Amino acid sequence: MLEEALQAPGPRPLPPAVADLLRAEQAPPRLAAHLRQVHDVACDLLDRLADEVPELEVDRTAVTFGAATHDIGKARHPEELTGPGSRHEPTGERVLLSYGVPADLARFAAVHADWDRPDATIEELLVTLADKVWKGRRDPDLEQRVTIAVAAATGREPWDAFLLLDDVLTHLAERADERLAFQAAYPV
Ligand SMILES: [Fe+2]
Repeated sequence: MLEEALQAPGPRPLPPAVADLLRAEQAPPRLAAHLRQVHDVACDLLDRLADEVPELEVDRTAVTFGAATHDIGKARHPEELTGPGSRHEPTGERVLLSYGVPADLARFAAVHADWDRPDATIEELLVTLADKVWKGRRDPDLEQRVTIAVAAATGREPWDAFLLLDDVLTHLAERADERLAFQAAYPV
């Protein structure tokens, strides 16, 4: 089932190195399906932002890798796939480091639930945003942080950045039901 979750038609495939990490971790198929969805939405989000605000500098590799691995610690804490819990966060970073993933990429696993820090980077905010909007969830506080970051980085007025982001996220949220159904089809 893991191979099916990794390869079934639907969201973009994960980067091959990430798929290999999930195989090595014997990840639950649902985790692989979830990471594909969030990675796919992060790619769409980056594409839209690149079209709409090309002057915004974002480390695309970091965002896509972060989205593709943020919950990898749930392979070792599978109960957190269906229930609350944050043990997967430090575990995920440790797991990635143990496979030789550079610290600046492993970090997303540890901080994806902790975006509300003054020093959160635009890359961290975008991974968290993708992890919400894939299922249609909107978070006004998070979106405000991204709006401010986009406005500051591009010189746009905050209202202009807000409308742009709102439009992009509304569009991405439209396919949430389809994504939830894909993910739910794979067992924990
Ligand atoms: Fe997630």
